[in-house]
Amino acid sequence: MHIGVPRDPHPDQRLVATTPETIASLKRLGYEVAVEKGAGTSAHFPDQAYHDAGAELVDSAAAWGADIVLCLDQPPLSALELMKPGALLISRLAPATSPEFIEQCRQHRITAMAMDAVPRLSRAQSMDVLSSMANIAGYRAVIEAASEFGRLFTGQVTAAGKLPPAQVYVIGAGVAGLAAIGTAQSMGAVVKATDVRPETAEQVQSMGAEFVAIPVATEESEDGYAKEMTADQARAAAILYAEQAARADIVITTANIPGRRSPVLLTAADVAQMRPGSVIVDMAAQGGGNCELTQPGQVVETGNGVKIIGYTDLAGRLPAQASHLYAKNLANFLALLTPDKDGCPQVNLDDDIIRGVCLCQGENILWPPPPVKVSAAPAPADQKAVAEPAVPAEEKTRRSPLLWIGLATILAVVLMAFSPAAVASHYVVLMLAIVVGFYVITSVTHSLHTPLMSETNAISGIIVVGALPQIGSPHLAVQIISMIAIFVASINIFGGFTVTHRMLTMFRKDS
Ligand code: NAI
Repeated sequence: MHIGVPRDPHPDQRLVATTPETIASLKRLGYEVAVEKGAGTSAHFPDQAYHDAGAELVDSAAAWGADIVLCLDQPPLSALELMKPGALLISRLAPATSPEFIEQCRQHRITAMAMDAVPRLSRAQSMDVLSSMANIAGYRAVIEAASEFGRLFTGQVTAAGKLPPAQVYVIGAGVAGLAAIGTAQSMGAVVKATDVRPETAEQVQSMGAEFVAIPVATEESEDGYAKEMTADQARAAAILYAEQAARADIVITTANIPGRRSPVLLTAADVAQMRPGSVIVDMAAQGGGNCELTQPGQVVETGNGVKIIGYTDLAGRLPAQASHLYAKNLANFLALLTPDKDGCPQVNLDDDIIRGVCLCQGENILWPPPPVKVSAAPAPADQKAVAEPAVPAEEKTRRSPLLWIGLATILAVVLMAFSPAAVASHYVVLMLAIVVGFYVITSVTHSLHTPLMSETNAISGIIVVGALPQIGSPHLAVQIISMIAIFVASINIFGGFTVTHRMLTMFRKDS
């Protein structure tokens, strides 16, 4: 089958959906690639580079007329009319706000796949175009702020006197926010950040920035995106944002709730309190803006000398790298669609990712997809637990170790009673090992559980070696304990190999 890569019909779009580097990946999947002449010019990829990579250079009609069309944003109706019925359109399509566009695709019998609807699953990270673009845009936001800010970012001590570092405040610590934090931090600024999702505090702090929490408790997110705040939370947040913005030199706002207008977090009155020379970069300008005074696509200066940057093409200001990541995301998605690498896409709607992006197929509209929870989300509370009378959390934590200690003591007494005298001393060592092991493992942070598992694999190996000679013991109790030891340690060893294998597969580049 042919993949077509038309030149983007939007005159301001500098990105291209396929780079010469990804042509090879697409060909390995069994596809022929037809790129419209000049499609990559604005992203610094000349036609010759596509030709050398094995793509065919074609005119606009041929690119749109391919079996699969890759582009950047919603194509106009005139372009849809050039597409064949049954063709696949893979692009950012803003499905939440575009029911008419989905209907047009359905009428043309085009299978539309929205890359901006890829669910936030770990398996889908390599296809997540929103994260790729937000990452680049977060970096560029700081660069734009630095160029409008008339001072140094880093603090300096010179013979002539001290210059304090710039104070950067980031609202919204998602992908773009974290990229902005990292960039501002590396340029020497003092960075603070706030997010409604409390789980982002650890990520902000791990980048060396200070997390400023909203004083009213907010909920953990189930899908990696924020939910709308309650009135109390919004009031507390508004006061916090106004205070922090007044102290900052640069404010970068990235707050976004999918499918909604961006929340207004900085009012005209808040901006009036900021120092002259301060800069706001409103990354949410396209969705309505997080600042009341933002003008999408423009830089405006307020009466008190605050500049507000509302660029909506921050990723496009680094077109080669942004195109590179976008093209890689698309190639990874096509690899998922083409498991047999035979150049024939399989729209398997049982796959969460494919189902999540598929807007319409044949006569059917498939948007919105059923909700998908991120793998790290807390499991739903089980029904039995809900039915049980509520036990205060403190009492539960007090009760459960006592229960385990009691059971372990009974087990130890039974084992000692039925074991030969020579073995009894080993139980003391075993009990101590269990207690020490429990406290060591429960104190290790989740992110270090994988290296910890490698350690326990090694220990399990030692246990198996130690238990093997004991299997031949004349005492039945010793034989049974050896067998249990070998069985339990083997679970750890083989489980470790299985998990490691799965992790390595996630990083393998088959395409
Ligand atoms: P994201 O969903 O990963 O992050 C948004 C963050 O804002 C989330 O962590 C969320 O919890 C937080 N948030 C939501 N409401 C909040 C509130 N009231 N107070 C504090 N935090 C709040 O989104 P991502 O990918 O980081 O993108 C951020 C924004 O940047 C989006 O609006 C996106 O459209 C925009 N963007 C703009 C570009 C440009 O060229 N201007 C390019 C790429 C993205």
